[in-house]
Formats: sequence, structure tokens, C-alpha cells
Amino acid sequence: MHIHQIRSELKECLSAKRYRHTEGVAASSRELAARYGASPEKAELAGWVHDCAKEMTLDEMKALVREGGLAVDAPVLKSRALLHGPAGSVYARLHFGIDDAEILSAVFYHTTGKPDMSLLEKIVFLADYIEPSRDFPGVEELRALAEQDLDRALIAAYDSTIRHLAEQHVYIYDLTIAGRNYLILSQRHAQAE
Ligand SMILES: [Fe+2]
Ligand SMILES: [Fe+2]
Repeated sequence: MHIHQIRSELKECLSAKRYRHTEGVAASSRELAARYGASPEKAELAGWVHDCAKEMTLDEMKALVREGGLAVDAPVLKSRALLHGPAGSVYARLHFGIDDAEILSAVFYHTTGKPDMSLLEKIVFLADYIEPSRDFPGVEELRALAEQDLDRALIAAYDSTIRHLAEQHVYIYDLTIAGRNYLILSQRHAQAE
């Protein structure tokens, strides 16, 4: 499916607020890709489709994940917040016809993160955080950091997510913590060299 058609479908099926966010993530992904040497086209497309399943019901998300034959951990299957990434990657493949594994993986992991993310996965994860319509305390610092150091900005984004979840006393997915720790150790390693 051509990107124009994908965009107009998203405009139809997403709320106005979600569409504006999506547009922002596409633009921020493109910018980060240009800055850090990933494909701007791929990053933009991943940004466009990253939240395509976000407004589905949990049952719709589960059906997609089943249809796509994806293995997903039990806690993820119970949470719309966690499942919309995997479900979105299936929707992007089956409905939008995107078969680029890097793009699909960036969509899959955009909420949870994971250890050893690819450049494109990092870009979409961070763009989701800093796109222009985001407004939370510290977002300006995070945007500035994203222009200087991708991994440090990612750590700050992980920390902010983990802090927020801990303050609400809700479940924190293992892969998110592991993703954060992976970057901390790789930074230490880089400093020690
Ligand atoms: Fe999302
Ligand atoms: Fe998003």
C-alpha cells in the first residue's frame, strides 16, 4: 500500500489526537534517522504505522497476534498498552502490506523497548516520546538530549517510563527493565574503553 493511502486510512480510523501524535512520530522518526544514519523513509513509515492498533480492543489485538503467529509473553497479552505494538506489527504487515522486518520490529517494540535494539527500533521508540505534540515535564531536556546522544536519550526515556509506572504501582514489563539495563552497561563499557 502506498504511504498516501496508509496515511488516509490512519486518518479515518484513529482519533484526531492519535493521528496528530502519529504525524509527529513520523516526522520525529525521519529527523532522528537523518541525524543518526538510518533510512529516513523507513523510519518515517515505521512512525506512521507504529500506533495503528492502539485504539483496538484487547480482543482485536489478541486476534491479530494469533493471526500473525506471534509468540507474545503472558503479561503482554493482558495489556492493551503493551499489546498494541505486537498487534500493530501484524496489522502493518497484513493490512498495509509492509514486509520490511526492520520496520515491523520497530513497531513491535516501540512501547516496551528491549535489549540490543536496532538503530531503527531506537529511533521509533524515542520519536514516540519526543514528537512535537508530547507535553510532559522534562520533554524539552529529552528533545535536546535526543539531538546529542541517542543512547543517553533512550536511557532517559526508559527511566522516565519506569519511574512513572513505579509511581503508579503497576506492572513493569521485564523487557523494558532489561532494555534499560542493557544500555546502562553498554555506556559504562564505552566509558571504560
Ligand atoms: Fe504506541
Ligand atoms: Fe505512539
